[in-house]
Formats: sequence, structure tokens, C-alpha cells
Amino acid sequence: MTNLLPPSPPAGEASRRTALGMALASVAGCARAQGSNQQGSPDKNPPPGLWQIARDRGFTFGAAVQANMLASDPLYAAAYEREAGVLVPEFEGKWSVLQPKEGEFDFSMLDAIISWGQARGRPIRGHALIWHEAFPDWALAAIGESQQRARAVMAAHINKVLGTTRLRIRDWDVVNEVVADPPGSDTPQADGELRNSPFFRALGPGYIETALRMAREQDATLRLVLNDYGVEEDTPWAEEKRRRLLNLVRDLVRKKVPLDAVGIQAHLQMRNAFNPAVFANFVRAIRAEGLSVLVTELDIREGDSVPDDYVARDRVVAERVSAFISAAAEGGVRTFLTWGLVDRFSWTVIEASVARRDGKLHRALPLDWEYNRKEMWRAMARSFQTAA
Ligand code: XIL
Repeated sequence: MTNLLPPSPPAGEASRRTALGMALASVAGCARAQGSNQQGSPDKNPPPGLWQIARDRGFTFGAAVQANMLASDPLYAAAYEREAGVLVPEFEGKWSVLQPKEGEFDFSMLDAIISWGQARGRPIRGHALIWHEAFPDWALAAIGESQQRARAVMAAHINKVLGTTRLRIRDWDVVNEVVADPPGSDTPQADGELRNSPFFRALGPGYIETALRMAREQDATLRLVLNDYGVEEDTPWAEEKRRRLLNLVRDLVRKKVPLDAVGIQAHLQMRNAFNPAVFANFVRAIRAEGLSVLVTELDIREGDSVPDDYVARDRVVAERVSAFISAAAEGGVRTFLTWGLVDRFSWTVIEASVARRDGKLHRALPLDWEYNRKEMWRAMARSFQTAA
């Protein structure tokens, strides 16, 4: 959570992008589309943002946001103001930020996002209470001491965070990424259907139920979400992960464990095939258990080799996004959140584990390097407008 500066684009990339962006802006009247007129003063009648286009069709659109960028970059803040109807803290709701030392909580970064959103009428969703990453060493050591201690550490965190945010956040990822990645996937886990995470080791598979029950006990009407990834595409390992997730969800429902929704992260990859019918059926299967399904972290990693020209690249990405949103909507998803808005701040360009290896930068999100709407934005707008 320290250095969140974007990498510099490879030599020539920024200037080519700028040139291309300007060319497109003049063709498509982009100055207007960005909410300002030719003189750069605010447009009195700006065209609607993605969240308004979504809302008019009964969908919710929002995006993950970074508090320090919101405070320091006016163009970034303007993009969120224009496009995002819901805000999700990209880091600021994670354990290591909220409770870096035992009993010492720091809500300042999360508060900054909440206040910014509240001033603009944009709700915040919480992410994430129990996760194997962003989990500080003190907590790792503490929950290894005994089951009793592990339960107490879990309860203290959940109760303090939910108690503090209760009037301002009504929707939390209570457990994040709890299903194990099957063989064949990018990060396969050795065995078991559930991830071998710190709380799994400390408390056994029942830790998921324990966390959900603690959250419900703390807040009777909060939306409790189980959030996971790797279930979207048409690969054998995604098929297996869908089976595992559905199994878990059905087990929780059968045991009457409090759970309201499943979040599907949707970090899509062009290298994998996508089958709309398979995905829509999966969404339906979860909904048949009485749960809502949300798309919580949508972004796209491009294929292993990409064309030289950005227009061609953006078209491929946009087609996949359209197919995905349409299938999800057909299955009954009404909430779509992207993991960021602007390519330049996407974890797909910042994080080595998901960045490209050829020096190029993924065009993963609706707005390009210069914060302009690109083909993915238009594909999303069209998908909302035409979805059933
Ligand atoms: C990611 C952030 O985007 C990165 O910058 C950070 O270093 C690691 O976490 N699934 C999740 C998110 O649930 O919290 C992750 O966010 C991306 C994958």
C-alpha cells in the first residue's frame, strides 16, 4: 500500500497514445464526451457517465478506487465522478491497512473514500474482511497460537470494522478467494477444494461459516458477500472451480449460514475461451440457491501477443467485454464493478504477477492511459443499453 505510482510507459508508447488519443478525440468529438467543451470549461450539459447509462437500464455500475489518487489527481477524481456510481476501496478496506498492528485500527484512508463518495451520493462497498493477502505478520502469528486465539482475532477485526462502517457501508466482501485453484490454472494449489489459507489452517474449513456468522451477528441487515475468481471462462480448471464454488455455496445454504451474494471477480484473460451459455448457467445455478450474483472486479488481460495498433487491440477487448456482460446479465447479474477505471492505474500494469511480459501494457479498463473513454467503455454502454 505504499508506492502506487504507475510505471512509465515504454519509450514512444505515451506519445503514440497521445497522438492516437487526439486523433480519435477529434473524430469522435471526445472533448464533449469527457464533459468539457472546446475551451476546457465545464460543459453545462455533459453526456451521461457509465453509471447513469447503467442506472437507466436498471443496472449498477461502479469501480475500485485508490484514496491517494482521488486526493492527488484531479483528472482521476473527475473520471470517477463522471463514471462510477459505486466505489470500492482497492486497498483501503483490507486488513493490513485497517489493522496494521493488533488493536490499532486506522480508518483514515477508508474514510477518505467514504467521504468523497458520500459527498457525491455514491455508495461504497467493502472489500475485504477475511483474505489470505494483505494479512499482516502479527495476525498470521497470532492466529497460529490456538483456535481460541484465532477466533478472537477474527472476531475483533470483523466487529471493529463492521461496527465502525455500519452506517456508511452496507455491502461487504466478508470472505475473499476461499476456493482453491485447480490444476491447470495460473496458480494451482496442491490439494483440497478450499484454499489452504491462514484461517483455514488455524480453524479448518469451518472458518468461512464462522466469519459469515460473526458478520451477521454484528450487523443484521448488511449484505454479506463471498467473493472469488477463476470461474468465468471456458477451461477445464474454471469448470472445476465453478463446481467447487457451487459446492461450497450449496453447503453454506444448506447449513443456513448467513450469506446474501456471490461476487464473481471477472479478471478475464483473452488467452482463455469464453462460453456465454456456460457462464450464464453458472450464474443461474447460484441464483437458484437464493443468492444474488455481482460482478465485482471486471478487467481484461489481453492475449499473449497483440497487434501493434491500439484500435485493433481495443476492439478485441471490447468484444470480450460485451459477450461477458451480456451473458452475465442474461444469467441475472445487475451489478457490474470494474477493478479500476483508467488503464494507467490498473493492477494489470502495476503488478508483476499479472502484467504482460513483452513490455506492452494491458488495455484492461474502460478509460485509456489519458483517461479517455475507449472501445471498452462504448462496449459496456451498449451492453447495458441492449441487455434484457
Ligand atoms: C489487488 C490490487 O489491485 C493490487 O494492487 C494489490 O497489490 C493486490 O490486490 N483480487 C482481489 C483484489 O480481491 O483485492 C486484488 O487487488 C486483485 C485480485
